[in-house]
Amino acid sequence: MIEMRNVTKRYPNGITAVNDVSVKIDSGEFVYIVGPSGAGKSTFIKMMYCDERLTSGDLQVGKFNLRNIKQRDLPYLRRYVGVVFQDFKLLEKKTVYENIAYAMEVVGRKPSAIRKRVLEVLDLVGLKHKIRMFPNELSGGEQQRIAIARAIANTPGVLIADEPTGNLDPDTSLEIMSILERISANGTTVIMATHSRSIVNNIKHRVLAIESGRIVRDEQEGEYGYND
Ligand SMILES: Nc1ncnc2c1ncn2[C@@H]1O[C@H](COP(=O)(O)OP(=O)(O)OP(=O)(O)O)[C@@H](O)[C@H]1O
Ligand SMILES: [Mg+2]
Repeated sequence: MIEMRNVTKRYPNGITAVNDVSVKIDSGEFVYIVGPSGAGKSTFIKMMYCDERLTSGDLQVGKFNLRNIKQRDLPYLRRYVGVVFQDFKLLEKKTVYENIAYAMEVVGRKPSAIRKRVLEVLDLVGLKHKIRMFPNELSGGEQQRIAIARAIANTPGVLIADEPTGNLDPDTSLEIMSILERISANGTTVIMATHSRSIVNNIKHRVLAIESGRIVRDEQEGEYGYND
C-alpha cells in the first residue's frame, strides 16, 4: 500500500510542486495520474521512489517510510519500486540482456537467478529474440518494452511509469498498455502519469487528476471521462 499524508514538495527555487496532498493507493491498484503540464505529476511520482525528498508530510510506500528513510535502505526501496520513463533510459553500451541483468546485479542477485529471470521478463514483453541487440538497434516501442522488462526484473511490488507512451505512436502505445495490464494482473501496483486522453478514456482505471500540486479529482475505475 502507498499512503501520502499532507505531503508537500517545495523545490529550492521556491516552487511548490506538490501541495498538501493526501491519498491512499491499495496494493494491486492501477492508477493514472493526469493533469496539465507543470501540475506536479512527475514530482508526485519521484517522491515515491525517493528521487525527490518530500518537504513535509508523511509518505509510506510498502514497508518504507520515505520521510525518514536512511540512505542504506534506498537499494531496498528501489527493489520494491520499479520505474519506467518516457525516454526509456536504457544503457546504450549494454545489450538488452546486460541492461536487464545489470538491474539485478546491483541488488546482489545470483548469476543463475539473473539468467533465468532475464529470459522470463523478456518473454513477458515478447522480445526474447532481441536479447543480444543494443538499444540503438531497437525501435522506440521495443526499447520501452525492454525498459519495462528491466523495471520488473526484481519483481517489484510497485511499478511507476512517467508518461511511458509519451514518445510512441498510438498502436505502439497500446502494446505498452497491454504489457502494463498484464503486469497489473499479476498483482503489481501500477501508477502511470499520462497525457493520453484516449488511453485514460478507453482503458479504464482509477484516475487521480492533479492541478497546481493538488489532487482535484480522484475517480474510481470507469467514472472518469477526460473531457467532462
Ligand atoms: N528539479 C526541479 N527544481 C525546481 N522546480 C522544479 C523541478 N522539477 C519540477 N519543478 C517545477 O515543479 C512544477 C511541477 O513540475 P512536474 O515536473 O512535477 O510537472 P508535471 O505535471 O510532471 O509536468 P509535465 O506534464 O510537463 O511532465 C513545475 O512548476 C516545475 O517547474
Ligand atoms: Mg512530468
